Amino acid sequence: MSANRTSVHGQWSSRWIFILAATGSAVGLGNIWRFPYITAEHGGGAFVLIYLVCIVLVGLPIMMSEILLGRRGRRSPIHTMAALAEEEGHSKHWRLVGVMGVFAGFFILTFYSIVAGWTLAYMARAVSGVFADASAQQTGAIFNALVSDPERLLAWHTIFMIMTVSVVSRGIKQGLEQAVRYLMPALLLLLLLLVGYSMTTPGFAEALSYLFKPDFSQVGASTVLIALGQAFFSLSLGMGAIMTYGSYLSGSAHIPRTTVSIGIMDTSVALLAGLAIFPIMFSVGLHPHEGGPGLIFKILPIAFGQMAYGNVLAFIFFTLLMFAAWTSSLSILEPVTAWLVEKTGYSRLRAAISAGVVAWALGLGSLLSLNLWSEVTLFGMTFFDLMEHLSVNIMLPVGGLLIAVFAGWFMSRSATSAELGLGNGAYLAWKVATRFIAPAGVILILLQELFGFLG
Ligand code: PFF
Repeated sequence: MSANRTSVHGQWSSRWIFILAATGSAVGLGNIWRFPYITAEHGGGAFVLIYLVCIVLVGLPIMMSEILLGRRGRRSPIHTMAALAEEEGHSKHWRLVGVMGVFAGFFILTFYSIVAGWTLAYMARAVSGVFADASAQQTGAIFNALVSDPERLLAWHTIFMIMTVSVVSRGIKQGLEQAVRYLMPALLLLLLLLVGYSMTTPGFAEALSYLFKPDFSQVGASTVLIALGQAFFSLSLGMGAIMTYGSYLSGSAHIPRTTVSIGIMDTSVALLAGLAIFPIMFSVGLHPHEGGPGLIFKILPIAFGQMAYGNVLAFIFFTLLMFAAWTSSLSILEPVTAWLVEKTGYSRLRAAISAGVVAWALGLGSLLSLNLWSEVTLFGMTFFDLMEHLSVNIMLPVGGLLIAVFAGWFMSRSATSAELGLGNGAYLAWKVATRFIAPAGVILILLQELFGFLG
């Protein structure tokens, strides 16, 4: 049984709602925008395989750890880490893990909200019918017109941030729960609709083999880092989002089973997104390989433009993407908001607005780096790229590593086993994964990133 505490912020109405909310956090731009183009950049099936291994061996044990820490601490990540460290007789500095998570969250929001803004812009483009029969040059020009115009980007970024703040400010039951209750089923329905359509296109078989037939010739040491970073990003790990959601979970919910459900849903959505997107491209003779981050904004619309009812399909696709981004950004803003409420006694409304304004302001750096500041680079990266690289490839894995180390080595057995409710064998498996496999995996990969010793 879990510790008998409750969160001042409230509690999810049911385990099922928690699964929806956590899946809402996990399923986002990472699954539908990032996964397909990263997979395409790293050789298709081989990358998918490495990614799945990262999810199972590293991602799921860490997700269980985050949920268990959150539920035991029942506070925002910073206060949860401090409270649990004190309770278990360790240094209060463990709160820094929570602090880093909150920062990582801000960094992620800076570019997340910008890309989410693109999805809003593209819903409008789809309705206007501009993709009909568009050439690669034309779709490229449409995309460039958007990202090179700071005012347009600013408008969409602002609208998206307001959407995020307006849900988080309403709290758990009135805000987060209501949002995920409608958005998640709608998202799944839209995705299945698109996959159903893709199955009827001639490119489906090619897409299947592209996604599931491993070709290791494109795989290098850095591929594993990218796959791990993507696993963390996709499962929302390492920055306290899942820990915060876990702090609102009922004591009677079974954490391991819940985690596995979330992992399966997140992975399925990523694969289904691939199965929705790649066949459409293959069918019209486009190869996803060249797309990069512009894949679904520059290349996919060409395909939509050549299909019957392409505008409708494009609208469905970008709406789906926007819903996914929205439910994820809620979980990025929630930890900071909860922390501000605890720390300052602000009302939730004031806390959510304050956090949202700071995230919005930081986002301006990413926004401008796409146009006016595109020449300004640090370590060869623009502000946008730097934020993405730092948060996704460095901070999330480091955060996840520290969370695994804390849960695996510093929490007492009585506490972790009470929270997890596993039999001896399964508990041991979790312990081995959390103590050894996940940390070793993350450390090796970070060393590789820093020193490149694997060549
Ligand atoms: N998991 C989200 C996605 O795949 O798009 C992104 C994300 C949300 C990352 C929340 C981190 C986070 F805390």
